[in-house]
Amino acid sequence: QTGAFTYDPGFTSTASCRSALTFIDGEEGVLLHRGYAIGELAERSSFMEVAYLLLNGELPDASELDDFVATITRHTMVHEQLASFYRGFRRDAHPMAVMCGVVGALSAFYPDSTNVHDAGQRLVASHRLVAKMPTVAAMAYKYSIGQPFLYPDNSLSYAGNFLRMTFGVPAEEYEVNPIVERAMDRIFILHADHEQNASTSTVRLAGSSGANPFACMAAGIACLWGPAHGGANEAALNMLREIGTPDRIPHYIARAKDKDDPFRLMGFGHRVYKNYDPRATVMQKTVREVFGSLKVSDPVFDTALRLEEIALSDPYFIEKKLFPNVDFYSGIILSVIGFPTSMFTALFALARTVGWIAQWNEMITDSDQKIGRPRQIYSGPTQREYVELAQR
Ligand code: SDX
Repeated sequence: QTGAFTYDPGFTSTASCRSALTFIDGEEGVLLHRGYAIGELAERSSFMEVAYLLLNGELPDASELDDFVATITRHTMVHEQLASFYRGFRRDAHPMAVMCGVVGALSAFYPDSTNVHDAGQRLVASHRLVAKMPTVAAMAYKYSIGQPFLYPDNSLSYAGNFLRMTFGVPAEEYEVNPIVERAMDRIFILHADHEQNASTSTVRLAGSSGANPFACMAAGIACLWGPAHGGANEAALNMLREIGTPDRIPHYIARAKDKDDPFRLMGFGHRVYKNYDPRATVMQKTVREVFGSLKVSDPVFDTALRLEEIALSDPYFIEKKLFPNVDFYSGIILSVIGFPTSMFTALFALARTVGWIAQWNEMITDSDQKIGRPRQIYSGPTQREYVELAQR
């Protein structure tokens, strides 16, 4: 019994680990980080505060938060030679391909924070990863459009710094729009951690072998890239744009229901949530707030709302308990802010690094920790004699 929620013993057989970070009740659509509801954190907290909470277990007081933000801010620059690493990629390389490569290479630039058995090195690696992900992601975007890299401006907030490195240019002052900054920070909060999803489990499995934290994050990025996982935000907006107008929705609903058609409604359904993903609720609200404050609109939002309305009243989706997930609306906001769809999953990885590194720290400091070694149900042939080539 954990407070109002009962830990479902049914999960024990499939549980891959014990964790105190994030609790999900899929039937009720509940998501807690260290006991705090995601809706409250998204409305009232900041990404830096949530990062501190996930890494340390408690919300910080004012001086703890100031110290944490100052530490993260001090690590935002990357090794100068990392810039030439980018130049090995084609300009049209997918940002996630760049992120996989660059983040995996960070251990070569920061060998003094790769000893996983040294608490000090684990702490520095954690801070470096949280701090440098926005810089790495912004550089991937700048490289893809042929613009120069911008150094971090540490007078800005975490989200503001990222926005400036992404959209600023050396030739002009960049003014951080506070509405966009707040929306960006909230989007980071919504993506920070999510229990033992595929990419987090990948990070934990890689970390269980003693691999350095930078390599483990690169493994997580690779897994998150898949369209069934973090790649769904890019796929969901592409799908909504392909649908175009609401009159074309029934055709796509029919395709999603057709067993012989591999098409799935992207941004819909979830391995755990059999109710509305609480992050999607906040994301939809944030779309309305950003559109209202910036006095912008995008017909794709109307299509998304109509698609949700039709799907949620369709017996197939009701029976299979398919609801919008975190990826259904996120692309609409990211697109209005100015990101190309190719950057959406890189943003997911940027924010999820906080959860990955918190989960990695929890795993690596667990005294019962052993190397992960999933087993299998063998379905191959029983033992048999070798047959010489001449007899085959
Ligand atoms: C994320 O795990 C996490 O926590 C991940 C994540 C995180 O924060 O880390 O929440 C982020 O990855 C969210 C999910 C993003 N992916 C998508 O939006 C892609 C579209 N969704 C589907 O691919 C699917 O819903 C999955 C992959 C997410 C889950 O697939 P499952 O495991 O098959 O889901 P299920 O068992 O609940 O499916 C029940 C039925 C199945 O049909 P039957 O085998 O019973 O006949 O519903 C069908 C599924 O085929 N189904 C869908 C559907 N999702 C499931 N049918 C149409 N459209 C869909 N989107």
